[in-house]
Amino acid sequence: MIIGSTKEDLSLEKRVALTPETAKSMFNLGLKVCIEKNYATHLGISDEEFKKIGVEIKNSSNEVLNSCNLLIKVNCPSEDEINNFKEKTIIIGMLNPSQNKKKIGEMIKKKIDLFSLELLPRITRAQSMDVLSSQSNLAGYRAVVDSIYEFEKAIPMMMTAAGTVPAAKILVIGAGVAGLQAIATAKRLGAIVSATDVRAASKEQVESLGGKFLTVDKNENMETAGGYAKEVSEDYKKKQAEMMQEALKKNDIVICTALIPGKPAPKILTEQLVKLMRPGSIVYDLAAEQGGNSAHSNPGKINIVNGVKIIGVKSLMNRLPLTASNLYAKNLFSFVRNLYSREKKIFNINFEDEIISKTLIKEN
Ligand code: NAI
Repeated sequence: MIIGSTKEDLSLEKRVALTPETAKSMFNLGLKVCIEKNYATHLGISDEEFKKIGVEIKNSSNEVLNSCNLLIKVNCPSEDEINNFKEKTIIIGMLNPSQNKKKIGEMIKKKIDLFSLELLPRITRAQSMDVLSSQSNLAGYRAVVDSIYEFEKAIPMMMTAAGTVPAAKILVIGAGVAGLQAIATAKRLGAIVSATDVRAASKEQVESLGGKFLTVDKNENMETAGGYAKEVSEDYKKKQAEMMQEALKKNDIVICTALIPGKPAPKILTEQLVKLMRPGSIVYDLAAEQGGNSAHSNPGKINIVNGVKIIGVKSLMNRLPLTASNLYAKNLFSFVRNLYSREKKIFNINFEDEIISKTLIKEN
């Protein structure tokens, strides 16, 4: 069986689905591997490096598509690629089915088996494949680094002969994977960190990282059985806004990470709340591409309102594509390992397996 990977559209995506390390792991599993030429040269990984470990370099994406049984991608394939797929290929990637309905429909018509890794169940056995966690973790880290770069003051407390510099205060809204990494990174850099989340379970996690947990005084259970957040009531929103009023006056940087699966991002920082922030403060909105947690947040833009910089994030993984690729490729390899039967030497689509049945896109 042959695994192939073609280049992404570099104007939108700098990550790759295969690294030399995971190519080696694929060989050890008994698979052959081919890629399009100059596959990862933009990341400083030459074709030679892949060749040395036995990867076959093809001259075009078309040649890869004609050779492979399984194609691994970061994003949904392009229209051109879809036109050139042979029937019964398997595709694995972050296919984002709700945003790519037309392409998904075309591929299903060609009898292509599509696995979308964002649909993985959050079960222990799937942890090594969990692309949402591996990428969100990096997003949380990078959010702190970027917002500190935009902030025009120092972060840690410094006692110098010229006087004492107070530590900056960072508030993290949403304490999932990204939020928890943001808290850890901000603490390491010397900030005084607080965080809030609608899920009561996150209090202990925030505190274990040295953050102060800000609780909304409302006794509602905001967590679904699957561990995700629910949409909050109007009453909760009012109480959360009251709590924010005090917090925003004191904080220098606010990192927004709040999301509700399948819904637009909850709008937490209203225009009135942003007005309470001091000039020079930063709002870094990781949720911008899902509608944003903050007023004035636009993906890929920095808006300055009353001296507050509101940074709307877009394609954040393109700012650390090598680390993101290394983790993504390892997640993907774990998924392929689970799909491949070494004894039968075939990809085994076993619907009894929750990981397989939940990630397979059956219809459009
Ligand atoms: P996410 O990216 O979907 O959302 C980010 C955070 O925003 C969540 O913690 C959510 O509770 C919070 N949030 C939503 N609405 C909010 C609001 N109005 N105000 C404040 N906060 C709000 O979250 P992520 O990182 O995917 O984690 C969600 C759940 O999945 C957690 O329970 C986490 O522990 C669990 N998880 C399980 C994994 C596993 O078992 N393999 C891996 C990663 C996460």
